[in-house]
Amino acid sequence: MKEKISQEIIVNHLKNYGFVFQNSEIYGGLANAWDFGPLGAIIKNLLKNIWINYFVTSTKNMFLIDTNIILNSSVWDASGHINNFSDPLIDCKKCKNRFRADKLIGEFTNEKITEQTDISILEKIINNNKIKCPNCKNIDWTNIRKFNLMFETSIGVVDNNKNIVYLRPETAQGIFINFKNIQRTTRAKIPFGVAQIGKSFRNEITPSNFIFRTREFEQMEIEHFVEESQENMFFDYYINKIQKFLFDVLKLKKENISIENYSKDEIAHYSKKTIDFFYDFPHGKSELWGLANRGSYDLMQHESFSKKDMHYLDSNNNKFIPSVIEPSVGLERLLYAILIDAYDEEQVNNETRVVMRLDEKLAPYKIAVLPLTNKLEDFASKIYQSILNKGVSCTYDTSGSIGKRYRRQDAIGTPYCLTVDFDSQKDMSVTIRNRDSMEQVRVNIKDINLLNLSKLFK
Ligand code: GAP
Repeated sequence: MKEKISQEIIVNHLKNYGFVFQNSEIYGGLANAWDFGPLGAIIKNLLKNIWINYFVTSTKNMFLIDTNIILNSSVWDASGHINNFSDPLIDCKKCKNRFRADKLIGEFTNEKITEQTDISILEKIINNNKIKCPNCKNIDWTNIRKFNLMFETSIGVVDNNKNIVYLRPETAQGIFINFKNIQRTTRAKIPFGVAQIGKSFRNEITPSNFIFRTREFEQMEIEHFVEESQENMFFDYYINKIQKFLFDVLKLKKENISIENYSKDEIAHYSKKTIDFFYDFPHGKSELWGLANRGSYDLMQHESFSKKDMHYLDSNNNKFIPSVIEPSVGLERLLYAILIDAYDEEQVNNETRVVMRLDEKLAPYKIAVLPLTNKLEDFASKIYQSILNKGVSCTYDTSGSIGKRYRRQDAIGTPYCLTVDFDSQKDMSVTIRNRDSMEQVRVNIKDINLLNLSKLFK
């Protein structure tokens, strides 16, 4: 079995080739903030579309919506985020570093704590275990206080009349508050699901591990509205569906995925039951994708706060507030898992070849056109243009030896290279090289089926 890749190696690779850049780099960076470069931006969008095709377009009774980031603040009162969406914060008085108290305890003791554990108990555990500051090794802590993770801002121009609003910490609430609109306009019958992709913001105390935990990220969420008696069936349905997506569609390695179950006192305030799909990231096995049974919590809260009826009337005239099954994944976190999974190093002729073994549908470029020398540029650039005209993502590279150019395409995950040589113009044939096997075949240009290049290597 191959050694696990380190975070340093994958981060350097992704930065060097233009998948990801340090945010605000020319100003010294903004801590734990990242931008997606030319390759990262494409693959991110491919992933969104694959998710939409799989979970929405090709599935019965599924709808996609797109709601605002800033909502009426009452939404967050009703959802419980203003009161409950907080982490226990503790500061080291000596070096002024800031930590999540629950994470500190988890790191340095075997004490069992949950989201609900009282602050006074957390303080006692830290004192009794004499937990040192991981940064300066002193023991001089402030009291623990609850730190709300929502980013607060204001709208309105008059200073003393500003309205406090929040950047949404989850996309889900935009779906709940539109439940009635969606149901009325689509005339959907329960069970039906509503999906959304969009930015979420959390003022995380300890953002870390590259794009795994950031303050600004995108979520891909579904709220599936079901009858109470269908909760378990739909929960299992999504366990299956997510697994198929990870293994059959994204082709992630099975050994890197596991399922984590939680007890009632370990889960979020809105949830009746939660499981997480974990991925074996370089920093350790951690949450990739959450699946929660939110019951009727959110719609009931919104009914109570807005005084608007959130009931559903079924064909037998039964009126009820639906339950909700929610699969929720971070786009960047899923992308990170895909990139880690794809990264491979192998020895070829005493050299290390780095290959991103991305599935074809996730490769930023499907094919690279490479003229053997500059003299062949006219002919090669026509082929390049004709591929682009067919809507197939393609790149073109003329600089450096052909070997180096192959290695560059391997490193960014391009599944096929098309090499134009001195015979090409005479026999109208080119060489197609397979990224994974490095096998090469000679084909007549007119016989190339860009949508099924893998067939050439069977
Ligand atoms: N609506 C439910 C919800 O937001 P969550 O477990 O807090 O549940 C769901 O988040 C998913 O969003 C996580 O499994 C993770 O993939 C992603 N996520 C959460 N916080 C994140 C962060 N700070 N950075 C990147 N992704 C994050």
